[in-house]
Amino acid sequence: MNKKPIILAMTGASGSIYAVRLLEVLLAAGYDVHLTISSAGRLVIEQELDVSVDLDNFQADKLLLGGADSGDSKLSMLRQSAGISSDDSNVLAHGTGRPGKIHYHHYEDYMAPIASGSFLTSGMIICPCSSGSLAGIVNSLSENLIHRAAHVHLKERRKLVVMPRETPLSSLQLDCMKRISDAGAVVLPASPGFYHGVKTIQDLVDFVVGRICDQFEIQHSLIRRWGE
Ligand SMILES: Cc1cc2nc3c(=O)[nH]c(=O)nc-3n(C[C@H](O)[C@H](O)[C@H](O)COP(=O)(O)O)c2cc1C
Repeated sequence: MNKKPIILAMTGASGSIYAVRLLEVLLAAGYDVHLTISSAGRLVIEQELDVSVDLDNFQADKLLLGGADSGDSKLSMLRQSAGISSDDSNVLAHGTGRPGKIHYHHYEDYMAPIASGSFLTSGMIICPCSSGSLAGIVNSLSENLIHRAAHVHLKERRKLVVMPRETPLSSLQLDCMKRISDAGAVVLPASPGFYHGVKTIQDLVDFVVGRICDQFEIQHSLIRRWGE
């Protein structure tokens, strides 16, 4: 049976490298990924990875392994420090056959299929999830496609994983996390463990990405599991 697609939304919290790695893993696992990026998400990608993304004329390869960047961007350097090359993503425990495809949607495009509950998905991941997006979703604002798609997943009782990144946290942010968790979402903060033989930044990134994949029962080899 074909896997239903996964939605990946990148918003304007720090940690865009988590989403780039997650995108690679989801595609390798054979998921079609419906990708959307907020305007602040674009700013953070540029700030953190030196990758310039045009939300109106999106080019997926800029964010992928072996992408079109010059090779000396922060994204390339992070990959090199982790020993990841363009033809060796080495992320899955089992081969999956066909890799997935990216379907990009502008974050203001309410006509996108992911705005409707009738479009079936395996779930949605907001990675990273800004405090602003978290508050917008918790209050059912649906001010953009990301809020709307998240709301759809909550109302349809489908899997929604949000990865907030902020420190310290205000009681307002903690309240939003409690409320979205009560509504059925999984709150999975960007807080990697350090107990699995960390050597590189990529080990920390893979720890968090691995825990997101666990939510979807994707058989990955991103981390050595406790007890193995
Ligand atoms: C470089 C940069 C880093 C940011 N880091 C965070 C962060 O870690 N957590 C957060 O909640 N907001 C962070 N922000 C602020 C959000 O981007 C801002 O609140 C924005 O309105 C969120 O919009 P969005 O949810 O539509 O992406 C950051 C902004 C910039 C420019």
